[in-house]
Amino acid sequence: MTYPRLNVALQPIRDNMSVILHTCRQWNIEPVAVTKVHRAHPDIVKMLLELGYTKLGDSRVDNLKKLAGLNVEKLLIRIPMPSEVAELVKWATSSLISSIYTAKLIDQEAKLQKKKIKLTLMYDIGDLREGVYGLENLYKVAKEIDELKNVELYGIGTNMSCMSGILPTEENITEFLKAKKNVEEYLGRKLAVASAGNTDVFAFLLRNKMMEGINELRIGEGMIMGTDGAEGVIEILHQDAVTLEAQIVEIYDKPSQPTGIASINPFGEKVEQRDDRGMRKRAIVALGRQDVHFMHLIPYDENIVLIGQSSDHTVLDVADCIEQYIEGDVLKFHVKYGAILSGFTSDYVYKNMIH
Ligand SMILES: Cc1ncc(COP(=O)(O)O)c(C=O)c1O
Repeated sequence: MTYPRLNVALQPIRDNMSVILHTCRQWNIEPVAVTKVHRAHPDIVKMLLELGYTKLGDSRVDNLKKLAGLNVEKLLIRIPMPSEVAELVKWATSSLISSIYTAKLIDQEAKLQKKKIKLTLMYDIGDLREGVYGLENLYKVAKEIDELKNVELYGIGTNMSCMSGILPTEENITEFLKAKKNVEEYLGRKLAVASAGNTDVFAFLLRNKMMEGINELRIGEGMIMGTDGAEGVIEILHQDAVTLEAQIVEIYDKPSQPTGIASINPFGEKVEQRDDRGMRKRAIVALGRQDVHFMHLIPYDENIVLIGQSSDHTVLDVADCIEQYIEGDVLKFHVKYGAILSGFTSDYVYKNMIH
């Protein structure tokens, strides 16, 4: 066995993706399956295609490249870097956008590559990450993009909660939909999509029995984790499809407080001293920040306390555990979003895809 390992149960993920697809379609929404958290893993992409997804989205052009040859929309969900425009035009069919400068570069490149790229202009309604801010600015940028010949202004988009944790509400979604309508009036034509994201919006629409108008929804976390950004459980979905295992490489009784003059650790952190609890049984698992940050893990054994982590080691207090762990034992963890993201990204974490 190879550790650390992500155990990825594909059937619950398939169920989640199926429920999301059918729920969205009942609402006349076409979901974009966001594949970045698993780096467009072929087993998961295969399931998306089998289920009938027509739109896949990723933040990295490298991941879109893996979808080459598939007959689906390939949407770059991170507003593009000017330096990646040639690759974007080569591998994507569409992109979110907020800068007229980059839109013009895409237009020039699309002409060279004899392609037409669909652009969804992002509107910032309060989360303060990407997107044009203010309605007048939105009109101006929309008009300029609309005049370009080799790109199509495909719609208006917005994103919630990823930066400031701003949740979808009836007010901000109404504002977004109104902005799209206003842009359409300004341009004198309809735009194909009102594209919202992320999983939080899906959860909101589910709770509020849907609001008319959104017709594209970019969803990642919900498909894999069955939760939304605020770690709220979405009851119609499965949780715990992904877990992480790591192996114990040392167990010793050690004092609960370090000895010597404390400075900062290599990550610039001043480690807070815990209460002196005397000698405690501590385990080290071979898992570090180069793999998965320990703050994104929850031990299955509720008596384990996470103490700290360096690049390659995670230290745990196992003194109160009923189980008498020994070196070589494998500890299992629930994973938060950040653990799945970095677990899939780190070459050092084995991906155990369970069919
Ligand atoms: C622009 C955009 N849309 C949608 C998503 C999907 O978010 P989530 O994984 O929370 O559903 C993300 C994040 O990955 C994003 O950056």
